Amino acid sequence: MDLSPGRPLPAGIDTPCFLIDEEDLSSNLDRFLAALEARWPRSIAAYSLKANALPWLLAYFRDRGLHAEAASDDEYRLSLAMGYPHDKIIYNGPCKTRETFLEAVTRGAFVNVDSGRELLWLKELDLPGSGPFRVGIRANIDLEARCPGEFALGAEGSRFGFCHENGELGKAVAFIRGLKQIRLEGLHLHISSRTRSLAVYRALARAAGEIAAAHSLDLSSVNLGGGFFGGLPDKPSFDEYFREIAAELGRRFDPRRTTLVSEPGTSLVSSPFSYVTEVTDVKRTVADTFAVTDGSRVHIDPLMRKSEYFFEVLRRKPPAGPPLPRQVISGFTCMEFDRLFVLRDHPELSVGDRIVYHRTGGYTLCLSPMFIKHFPAVAVRRGKEWTVVRERPAAEDFIRIQSV
Ligand SMILES: Cc1ncc(COP(=O)(O)O)c(C=O)c1O
Repeated sequence: MDLSPGRPLPAGIDTPCFLIDEEDLSSNLDRFLAALEARWPRSIAAYSLKANALPWLLAYFRDRGLHAEAASDDEYRLSLAMGYPHDKIIYNGPCKTRETFLEAVTRGAFVNVDSGRELLWLKELDLPGSGPFRVGIRANIDLEARCPGEFALGAEGSRFGFCHENGELGKAVAFIRGLKQIRLEGLHLHISSRTRSLAVYRALARAAGEIAAAHSLDLSSVNLGGGFFGGLPDKPSFDEYFREIAAELGRRFDPRRTTLVSEPGTSLVSSPFSYVTEVTDVKRTVADTFAVTDGSRVHIDPLMRKSEYFFEVLRRKPPAGPPLPRQVISGFTCMEFDRLFVLRDHPELSVGDRIVYHRTGGYTLCLSPMFIKHFPAVAVRRGKEWTVVRERPAAEDFIRIQSV
């Protein structure tokens, strides 16, 4: 579609809005699955809902045969509502409820036990004649010791799963072994790194082997989670990730018996998303030149960490006048710090010019609050056709789920 200023966007949407390029999404997924299956044929890819739980995406991944990775009772229920059967749901994280935990384990979802209370819930299921039920366990490893400088919070350590190094994991394994109706079949090791490097995945695969050996685990699956880069030319490719993982994992596990589970999220959905905004005002003050837009940092940088983007400026008219050293591209909200980036050495922008942010919104779309304006619409491009897959909520939608 032509996003040139002045041209209307597809019926039903206006700026600001998110656009998904289906071809890009599909080629990301093809590359991911091809790499995973080539390097470890006995494998599962589970889409991580937290990355972006847009129902269109959930249907898309379901139809391409992926499992769903749910990290809360809400995501678990949403996966079911979107047609993922229990045996295609992986249920992770500390945010489960007792009711959904028990249901998921007994109905055949793959549940990775994350905390002490979940061990007690498992015990409730250990009744004669009731099982057997299979589960996995999430290990907490000291990634910073294995890959210095790479763990997301440095020496502060991860808070998820049971600690391998201090013996908590061993105790949890012994507890589960004491339950007659429960089979410990999976080991889960997702961890957030700041680097997403190949070394991190080698370390995770090595840790899986160490843990299995230390506790004589007979595992049907090893789950290394998500956290991969996706579709960036100067970063590791999916093939490099799975080549490294397979080389390390193959030292301890038999590829014909052990399933490699991966939980990609951002790596699949970030590159296909764009965010389209329009300039609504240009003003000069004693301090700066501000190009005010109808977009906002609350939509694409809610954690307030970014200062640069892959952006494109689309002008209504050919630029006139000399380049300005700075124009502060600002958002629509009343927060002074809603400034997206500084456009340097460009002729002055005009009302109606469009700024399109590429590779943006895939993750943040679901993190943004409904602040001052309702959520932006989302449309999918398939060839020359656009389909609106999320409308901007109207005032009536906003009121419907609340009481007055
Ligand atoms: C357990 C688990 N799996 C998968 C993911 C997806 O990670 P990403 O979106 O970086 O691929 C996360 C993200 O935090 C996670 O916590």
